[in-house]
Amino acid sequence: MASHGIEIRELYKIFGPQGERFMEAVRGGMSKAELNEKHGHVLGLKNINISMPAGGITVVMGLSGSGKSTLIRHINRLIDPTAGQVLYDGVDVCGMGTNELREFRRHKTAMVFQKFGLLPHRTVMENTVYGLEVQGIERAESTRKAQQWIERVGLSGFENHYPNQLSGGMQQRVGLARALTNDADILLMDEAFSALDPLIRVDMQTVLLDLQKELKKTVVFITHDLDEALRLGDTIAILRDGQVVQQGTGQQIVLQPADSYITAFVKEVNRGRVIQVKTIMGPPAATPPALRVESDTVLEEAARTMTSAGESVAGVVDTSGTLIGAVDLQAIISAMVTPTSHLNAAMAAE
Ligand SMILES: Nc1ncnc2c1ncn2[C@@H]1O[C@H](COP(=O)(O)OP(=O)(O)OP(=O)(O)O)[C@@H](O)[C@H]1O
Ligand SMILES: [Mg+2]
Repeated sequence: MASHGIEIRELYKIFGPQGERFMEAVRGGMSKAELNEKHGHVLGLKNINISMPAGGITVVMGLSGSGKSTLIRHINRLIDPTAGQVLYDGVDVCGMGTNELREFRRHKTAMVFQKFGLLPHRTVMENTVYGLEVQGIERAESTRKAQQWIERVGLSGFENHYPNQLSGGMQQRVGLARALTNDADILLMDEAFSALDPLIRVDMQTVLLDLQKELKKTVVFITHDLDEALRLGDTIAILRDGQVVQQGTGQQIVLQPADSYITAFVKEVNRGRVIQVKTIMGPPAATPPALRVESDTVLEEAARTMTSAGESVAGVVDTSGTLIGAVDLQAIISAMVTPTSHLNAAMAAE
């Protein structure tokens, strides 16, 4: 399926009646606190530049009030920027006219909300077809499409249930089925799984990852949960006070946190599930070990494989099967508990 990336360029949002008036001051470095105290305006976003690759999951993370929702709402222009661009397939969403914008929202974007956003007196089926109904698609066709996604998210048999007859996890599956039925390239998910119990939440992450393998949507996923960000994000951008403080892969962020704010975020992370063997491998051994692991295997999995095979050394191979290095179990285990600075930072940046 064709998919298109999103480019956020020099995006600013100043909330208040005269946002533009303070652009120069904000560009010149006026802080969020000062803008608020002196001028009663709120700095929502400051000079955001993020590439959200087509077919990938971009996670936006940050504490409450850091600007996550403000950012995602610019993508379908529920919020107009004070300055900057949101390019989709090279077209600036912020410059679209009314009709163009309506078409873009209906056909290119779908949102999944934290509070599910289901219509209470509509059944699962009626909720799922809603977007197509608005588009004026014939009922037989919209039902057929909706049915397919209801099945795909594991809700067969619940078509005629009402939202209040479903658990939170099931309601969020309806939210996902509804978004997918729209067949939009861009999936906007603002804290979509945050209201769910931890185990259900992990289930929903699995559903999303499984679907994403075949659908390759351009997903923008907001969370304040680092484990969720690391599990879902092909890339992660971390916001603080309306600014991007770091962006990169999960591994880059865990291994090289840009500042103390991010260090605090990543402190509790299970490193064994993030760091890949290629980050800590040494040169290939003269006598190649019997056991091989792929270079992007995470440490925890490599340790498990080696332990169950009874091997203390493994060869590391790239995707084409070429031997590119070696790791030993002792090094793996110590890297799982070693602070960032001891690891090979150059490898992490690659
Ligand atoms: N309509 C608005 N008017 C004025 N200020 C706003 C408005 N919407 C958001 N803000 C402010 O912009 C900043 C970013 O808010 P935003 O809702 O984007 O944060 P968030 O990261 O999504 O937080 P949360 O995790 O709580 O959802 C906050 O300081 C917020 O108070
Ligand atoms: Mg929010």
